[in-house]
Amino acid sequence: MDKIQVLIVDYGSQYTLVIGRTLRELGVRSVILPPKKVDAWLKNNTPKAVILSGSNWSVHNEGAPELPKSLDITGKKYFILGICYGMQLLAYKLGGKVDRPLLHREYGPALVSINTKHQLFNGVKEKTEVWASHGDTVTKLPKDFTSIAVSGGIGAMSNKDGKILGIQFHPEVSDTKEGKKILQNFLNISGCKKDWNPLNLIHEIQKEVLDIVSSSKKQNVVLGVSGGVDSTTLAAILAPVLKDKLICVAINTGGLRANELEELKENTTSALGKKLIKNLKIINTEEEFIKNINTTIDGEEKRAKFRSVYKRIFEEQIKKYNAGFIVQGTLATDIIESGKAGESAMIKTHHNVGLAWEVDDLHPLRNLFKYEVRELARVMKLPKAVYERNPFPGPGLFLRVVGTPVSKENIKLVREADKTVRDILEKNNITKDISQVIVALLGINSVGVKGDERVYGHSLAVRAVQTVDFMTAKGYYFSQNIMDEITSALTKHKGIVRVFFDMTPKPPATTEFE
Ligand code: XMP
Repeated sequence: MDKIQVLIVDYGSQYTLVIGRTLRELGVRSVILPPKKVDAWLKNNTPKAVILSGSNWSVHNEGAPELPKSLDITGKKYFILGICYGMQLLAYKLGGKVDRPLLHREYGPALVSINTKHQLFNGVKEKTEVWASHGDTVTKLPKDFTSIAVSGGIGAMSNKDGKILGIQFHPEVSDTKEGKKILQNFLNISGCKKDWNPLNLIHEIQKEVLDIVSSSKKQNVVLGVSGGVDSTTLAAILAPVLKDKLICVAINTGGLRANELEELKENTTSALGKKLIKNLKIINTEEEFIKNINTTIDGEEKRAKFRSVYKRIFEEQIKKYNAGFIVQGTLATDIIESGKAGESAMIKTHHNVGLAWEVDDLHPLRNLFKYEVRELARVMKLPKAVYERNPFPGPGLFLRVVGTPVSKENIKLVREADKTVRDILEKNNITKDISQVIVALLGINSVGVKGDERVYGHSLAVRAVQTVDFMTAKGYYFSQNIMDEITSALTKHKGIVRVFFDMTPKPPATTEFE
């Protein structure tokens, strides 16, 4: 395996892993490290390029993360690209000035004028739409630097020999129309060659897990499967190498969607071939989950309670099968938003991230995004039902009863409503246009009239999003006909009097309500 060519220093931006993902899309592998770990890594590695990520820090704040001590910022050893905070930090440390001018604060879309003669912007339009999120900005460049793009202020900078570069906006975010081109230019400038492909990755994952498992006394592996794309793909990757040692465990939490258990069995056994997944165990624990979760309406508390029951059940299975490992299909997104990637802020406690197990826990998909896992599934020729599957969160429908306690009745209601909406979308050929649809029961009761009688009933929210990686998302606008069809179908239920449609993007909202 070739040496890693790109080091990404993670200053805590929500988009750091998106930088890694975009480079992978461009065919180049990278390593992402928090600044504290960089010095140790640089002792044994010399990258061709270094990218400094964004951050929610200001360089002026006490305790703001620093440049790693051994990072060479003269441009002699490698090319450097600072993004947002990364650019501000470079400018500040090299003698420039960083301020908070009123006129150059940008949150969201912005238009940038580019110096297209600079190699970093080869082939980029002179005026290009970008996505930015910053209060601070570089107001005075360090000596020997020039400005190579302008928005409200300095939009990008380069030193004299074009080796130390900075961009104030985010090229990694898909809303930056020509961001990928800019990152490709940076890879070209620094001489990075393509070194990533999905088949290699499948073999790497198999080798990584097999090496760890083979050197352990207890070699049985419990893999949590949900029927979704991540765990099913992981099961398919690991089954040929772990064989009988692989025990797939699925939990019927009571928060599953309609037909989910049947589809799970179909996807993990029949679809992959009964010979492949030999051991699939289904554990029914509806009562325990509901009993624990219905004691709170707070989203984070619900997640915490879900996690502890989830953990307890898996621990029981680990003991039962005398396993030495628990393996889960956790993705990069889950890790970032749980605040476990480098320095990034915690958004939500994901059900399977950061649990303290008595056995080793492995997350072989931890550096990948959903669309990449879909790519692995496609390469392995898994059925379409697996790689095109809409995502669904581990804590399931429990996260879709919002502002009112979870009960069997309202889980049933939201499950039926979810099926009704998904059927309508399927019938109208809309499923393929959206990344995920969410139907939630809101804790807002209100007055309605049905059959000339007053009813005091529930409200439902319907939300569909379009996204590449779930780090950002756009709300999907249904046509009026579809909204009418959904509203009419949902209000047929005697307890539902109102339907709200939610098109809020992420950020500021998240995909799920909790
Ligand atoms: P958010 O709401 O954070 O969701 O924008 C991004 C994607 O992650 C899914 N999600 C989860 N998946 N365990 C999971 O396996 C979780 O705890 C969890 N929370 C959110 C969500 O459905 C969306 O696809």
